[in-house]
Amino acid sequence: MCGIVGYVGDEQAAPILLDGLRRLEYRGYDSAGIVVSLEGKLWLTKSRGYVNNLAGIIDGGAKMPGTVGLGHTRWATHGRPTDENAHPHISDGGKIAVVHNGIIENYAKLREFLISKGYHFQSETDTEVAVNLIAYFYAENGDLKLAVAQAARRMEGSYALGILCEDFPDTLIATKKESPLVLGVGGTARYLASDVAAILSYTRDVYNLRDDEVAVITRGGIEFFSGELDPIEKTPQHIDWDVSAAEKGGYEHFMIKEIMEQPEAVRRALKSRVRDGEIYLDGLDIPADFIKSVSKVYIVACGTADFAGVVMKYNLERLARVAAEVMFASEFRYNLPPIDETTLVICISQSGTTADTIAAMREAKKHGARVLSVVNVVGSVIAEESDWSLLTLAGPEICVASTKAYSTQLAVGYLLTLFIAKARGAIDDGKYRAALDALESLPGAIDETLKLREKAQYLASRYFSANDIYFIGRGLDYALSLEGDQKLKEISYIHSEAYAAGELKHGPIALIDSAVNTPVVAIATNARLIDKMASSAVEVKTRGARVLAVVTSATQDAMRDIADDMIVVPDYAEAFLPSLAIIPLQMFAYYIALQRGCEIDKPRNLAKSVTVE
Ligand code: F6R
Repeated sequence: MCGIVGYVGDEQAAPILLDGLRRLEYRGYDSAGIVVSLEGKLWLTKSRGYVNNLAGIIDGGAKMPGTVGLGHTRWATHGRPTDENAHPHISDGGKIAVVHNGIIENYAKLREFLISKGYHFQSETDTEVAVNLIAYFYAENGDLKLAVAQAARRMEGSYALGILCEDFPDTLIATKKESPLVLGVGGTARYLASDVAAILSYTRDVYNLRDDEVAVITRGGIEFFSGELDPIEKTPQHIDWDVSAAEKGGYEHFMIKEIMEQPEAVRRALKSRVRDGEIYLDGLDIPADFIKSVSKVYIVACGTADFAGVVMKYNLERLARVAAEVMFASEFRYNLPPIDETTLVICISQSGTTADTIAAMREAKKHGARVLSVVNVVGSVIAEESDWSLLTLAGPEICVASTKAYSTQLAVGYLLTLFIAKARGAIDDGKYRAALDALESLPGAIDETLKLREKAQYLASRYFSANDIYFIGRGLDYALSLEGDQKLKEISYIHSEAYAAGELKHGPIALIDSAVNTPVVAIATNARLIDKMASSAVEVKTRGARVLAVVTSATQDAMRDIADDMIVVPDYAEAFLPSLAIIPLQMFAYYIALQRGCEIDKPRNLAKSVTVE
């Protein structure tokens, strides 16, 4: 995610800002920039690429004197990773600079409004809307703090903002909603940061800004105000974390941090796209005629992205009544199925740079298919070359094993499924509306499911010494088995396999060894298929397996007498239940790997981005 750092003090700001930006590099970014105030003017340097690149341009900061400034690392969401789109952004007229984390959902409407008031825009970003909105209110009332609060009231979505205005060269203003922002105190110096890791080497005493609050930061002082601009008192907190713990938000590994971030990530993926009972897919101009004419959907991806595709396939076939097949990109590219202009290929990729998925996408296009990509990285090859691209908005994922990227791929898959179902007339209004209601509550339900963490940890302590573990499921639960198995093997190195439960007796059941009570994770969340699933669990149980059942409050009764252990996720609309049921599987894998002393965030032999075949 984007990173913010700000400084007001006696020392030169730029080197401190560069240092802070380097400490935020772990979050992932594609461009960086700094603004300082000097002699009543704003001085700005920003560029695509790494902080070292920026540091080279400004000679380690030496070329930017001034003791007040803001820095930013950008992870592109609105607009590609370019110099123009990098932060800070300056208002039309040049008076105000802003750095921003988050997404302003109503930016298109606000941009139109500002254009009608004569404002000009240089970039494709939502941030430029924020800075010009502040400038607009400031021009109207001449009170910067009030202008910031007024602009904040007009912005929907999430934001953490650092603001510098040439009329107040010794002051930074900050406000936030949903995105975090902390303020640090060290002697007469004051700091601003999106997370404490940026400023820990300068101070350990920080204030957490709450939603809608406004802070006015000067050398030696910070004044806090409520959203209504009433003065408020705040108490600083002393942080004991070391830098490594701070980067992980106090968690032991990025993996568990990213697991815990899933409600927020899924909320981001869904929120701006579901409004007033409709789905808006970022203005993609997918012709309705094309959607109606689609005869076959191929979902093409690798690894975990492919397993998110299996969930999408089941939902597309059941809800949108369109034939869908999932193929590994490495298979698709050399074994091209029949493709024509009625084929829709959906490429899913977190990085957008996976070599096999790129090659598969190009093959599909060469043979006349239209390609829609579901990608996490703006400006990546797959996002740029596909006919249409939808962002998953997971934010940077640092742990090699994918968790929040997978969850957002599921979420975008739900939206696409409902969008296609509606366009093809496959879903009636009542069901469509009920599905949208369920989607709106999904982030909250994921949050609830995260409470299973302790239970997952306990179960991991019962299974961590196994040599082999099998995952079974039917339908969407089979799709989850694939991902549960993937998570476990890649971080714990336990041998594991996933099978469609109905396939057991055609071969895999021979693997169940009563001498070691082979563990079988039976994913049994689907109420429609619970009887079938229960009998599959009995099949393995009677041959000596030890059964760990993942159930819902609605399916638990059917599994209670069969399972040795159970973990119960909240019951939910069938199509979206994978978003809940995956949580205990991710945590189970995490805690097993932890107990086995594995290198969790960087498993052996694996890379985050697989850019070679
Ligand atoms: C597993 C994992 C990998 C990726 C796969 C595709 O946890 O992360 O299986 O899903 O390498 O990568 P992307 O999504 O970047 O195309």
